[in-house]
Amino acid sequence: MHHSSSDQRPVDTGILILDYGSQYTLLIARRLREIGIYAEIIDGTASEPPADFDAKGIILSGGPDSVSETTARRLPSWVLDSKKPVMGICYGLQLLAQEFGGELRTGHSREYGKAVLELNTDGIPAASFAAKFAQLPAKQTVWMSHGDDVANLSEEFHIVGRTKDKVVAAVVHRELPIIGLQFHPEVHHSDHGKDILSLFAVEFCAAPLNWQADDVVQATMDYIRHVVGDGKVLMAVSGGVDSTVAAVLMAKALGREHVKAVFVDHGLLRKDEAIWVSENLRNLGVDLDQLDRHEQFYSALQGIDDPEEKRKIIGRKFIEEFEHYAHNHESLEFTHLGQGTLYPDVIESAGHGSGSKVIKSHHNVGGLPDVLKLKLAEPFRFLFKDEVRLVGKKIGIPQELVMRHPFPGPGLAVRILGGITADKVHILQEADAIFIKRLKETGLYDKVWQAFAVLLPVKTVGVMGDNRTYQWTCALRAVTATDGMTAGVGDLPMEFLVAVGDEIVRKVDGINRVVYDVTTKPPATIEWE
Ligand code: XMP
Repeated sequence: MHHSSSDQRPVDTGILILDYGSQYTLLIARRLREIGIYAEIIDGTASEPPADFDAKGIILSGGPDSVSETTARRLPSWVLDSKKPVMGICYGLQLLAQEFGGELRTGHSREYGKAVLELNTDGIPAASFAAKFAQLPAKQTVWMSHGDDVANLSEEFHIVGRTKDKVVAAVVHRELPIIGLQFHPEVHHSDHGKDILSLFAVEFCAAPLNWQADDVVQATMDYIRHVVGDGKVLMAVSGGVDSTVAAVLMAKALGREHVKAVFVDHGLLRKDEAIWVSENLRNLGVDLDQLDRHEQFYSALQGIDDPEEKRKIIGRKFIEEFEHYAHNHESLEFTHLGQGTLYPDVIESAGHGSGSKVIKSHHNVGGLPDVLKLKLAEPFRFLFKDEVRLVGKKIGIPQELVMRHPFPGPGLAVRILGGITADKVHILQEADAIFIKRLKETGLYDKVWQAFAVLLPVKTVGVMGDNRTYQWTCALRAVTATDGMTAGVGDLPMEFLVAVGDEIVRKVDGINRVVYDVTTKPPATIEWE
């Protein structure tokens, strides 16, 4: 087993979130951090609170269980024993209601989607916690997603809000700082959700505003110094935003001599990206070794059609490269392997935050062989993508570099459906570059979360000039998202799409047809493979 850096954290106080399996758990943390308060997620059944973390308040997430089931996840006793402020969301409310002797019922009023919350604090003493709800609009749209609801609630609670059919939607304990919400304040569709989270974190918990932009940079630097000490990092760079920012930050935090960035260029990056990334890293003071491994990766992928197999081969080859590198540079005495892993990857691979089924194997998390004998240093294992971008900007990385769209580790291999050839990589790079160039020219690039071209193993007939053509099909995909867990279809003007399609077919030899992907996630994923 590798020592992971997970027993350290960037700051030692904030809000603790107990996860009961809701697809929205990560959003609770995100919203609190947007408010400027550090928040961290742990398993909802943890038998004790994390050591060395001073939780100012505890939030219980939603989840798919029903408290009446024998297998349902329970509230650990330390939560209420701690006497700290607690807020239960959906399943979290139901756990609290049960804890105080209330009754729940199933299927009385299944609500899914938007609902109107009606708040009423009439007659509630001004000194009571519940009176604070009077600060919020009396009617507001909230996001509901539940099967069970509260049928009977202990007299110890004020009911401050209901939705249709008198469903109990917001409750506050008469004496203790305990809140329960049947709806999801963390979801954007809850119009005042963030205000409610802020009411809890700031007013009930008096949590310090310890997660503003400068704090994030400082805390992450401190974290790196703490984890690495006077060791030496072999920093794995993939060409994407996260590992690029991580490499620069490591060099800043530890000093250039303590960080060797190794950029394995698998030949599956976007057009000219490898050169651009390495030039920038060097300009930003990073000691970088760039390894050109195009041929090795292409030949390992030759004839491989299956998406998972492609992902696994690429993941394995990456690790091999770093193994070789560490082995061939023993004199450099590396102690840590640096990676740009993000918080959602950590949480999801621990089985929290969303379903635990493996849809795609990402090779960024934890896949380190013991032969490396290195400890992991993952400066962003507590950060969301937006926070990494913020850090990147704060430490002077060019805007264009940090604001690049996310890019999968296996690169264009998962955007060339079927077998990979050098020729297909070239064709796709050219098509993708045209799409991206035009998005930037028209200001649409920053309006979408991600946009890219996909090369389909489908040939169709076309006509160019007087000649019949028979060439590949290219699909364009653009999505809106906040973290890639769900995605909407990018609303690109038809005129724009037609212009992109026209330029691709005219300029890219090998493509004679372009289509636009109009599927959301779910049911589709963002990448095609
Ligand atoms: P999917 O295709 O699962 O993608 O909807 C969600 C987000 O993750 C990116 N992605 C990856 N990122 N390694 C990564 O670092 C991977 O193996 C990988 N696969 C998908 C994808 O680009 C999107 O932003």
